[in-house]
Amino acid sequence: MAGEQVLVVGAGGISTAWFPPIKEEQLQVCGVVDLKPEVARERLAAYQIEAPVFATLAGALKKTRPDFVLDLTVPDAHCAVTCAALHRGIPVIGEKPMAASMAQARRMLRAAEAHKTLYMVSQSRRWTGHHATIVQAVRNGVLGPLTTLNCDFYIGAHFGGFRDAMASPLILDMAIHLFDLARLFSGADAQAVYTKEFNPRGSWYQGNAAATCVFEMDHGIIFTFRGSWCAEGCHTSWNGNWRVIGEHGTLVYDHDQEPHGQVVAGSDGFNRTLRDACLPPAAMPYGGMHGALREMLAYLRTGAPPQTECHDNIKSLAMVFTAIKSARTGRRVAVTA
Ligand SMILES: NC(=O)c1ccc[n+]([C@@H]2O[C@H](COP(=O)([O-])OP(=O)(O)OC[C@H]3O[C@@H](n4cnc5c(N)ncnc54)[C@H](O)[C@@H]3O)[C@@H](O)[C@H]2O)c1
Repeated sequence: MAGEQVLVVGAGGISTAWFPPIKEEQLQVCGVVDLKPEVARERLAAYQIEAPVFATLAGALKKTRPDFVLDLTVPDAHCAVTCAALHRGIPVIGEKPMAASMAQARRMLRAAEAHKTLYMVSQSRRWTGHHATIVQAVRNGVLGPLTTLNCDFYIGAHFGGFRDAMASPLILDMAIHLFDLARLFSGADAQAVYTKEFNPRGSWYQGNAAATCVFEMDHGIIFTFRGSWCAEGCHTSWNGNWRVIGEHGTLVYDHDQEPHGQVVAGSDGFNRTLRDACLPPAAMPYGGMHGALREMLAYLRTGAPPQTECHDNIKSLAMVFTAIKSARTGRRVAVTA
């Protein structure tokens, strides 16, 4: 199959990252749905795409026969949009985060199961060359069995919008990317978490813009996330700055630069003799949203399951909601998807 028909739901800011790969893949946009049809029309004009515009998904589904739905709406709408498509047997690729609550996410999982229809989440940072290099090194045992992952995320972000009023802007709106990367890099899932969330003095946020989370992962791996959206100066990358430690060595990934590391080369001395770790760059021909889109197309054409199929991605979402629960209760909480 080629030139698949896609129904795009939500034509806001993030759609500008999706229309270029849609055009590059020569997909047919069979419709664009937005509560504000004028936004959809402007977007189509900007990308010189001719397609009907709808104000509701229900209206669009009466008039079109998409091969898949692309859900680019706000998190509160993900569950309703995705379930409506799944109920009609139409596969869905949706923007992160999967849902606005675990209850909604579980409903989406049940809809995918009941209708035997694919729902995948676009967790765009999975499709990044340096991230694939880290995954490859860990899988090949370059560092030995993993013991520790640390991620620091410090940015002074003056959004001036809805995030300023959220109770947990950092964990709810940002940390999903970094928690999912921890699962990607380690190949391990979270078992429990303890979170200390706070709002630094002088913060321009109403809610807690900073947090430290200590996750207990599978195989005894400890993943520590330290972050703030209210930290002026010496910013980290938006991907975070990482230290990944195994029994035989350490890998560092900082400011989006090529990952580098050292591994043990000798068996004595206070500090063991070290050598540079061999970290050949991994291939990543399609980055970000294009990478996610290629996995949806591969599924439609060959049945190959995407890595962020909902049963997997809900484990990253569970890290977010459990971290918040721990912050609220002041207790270590078991992570259950
Ligand atoms: N992967 C990334 O790095 C990344 C970056 C930014 C945003 N996002 C995600 O993309 C999603 C959209 O974010 P955005 O910045 O484009 O938001 P936005 O507010 O700019 O756009 C959302 C659009 O969806 C429309 N909409 C809302 N509910 C709808 C419904 N039920 N039916 C049809 N249209 C509806 C709105 O009218 C709006 O035009 C969010 O889930 C966000 O977290 C991901």
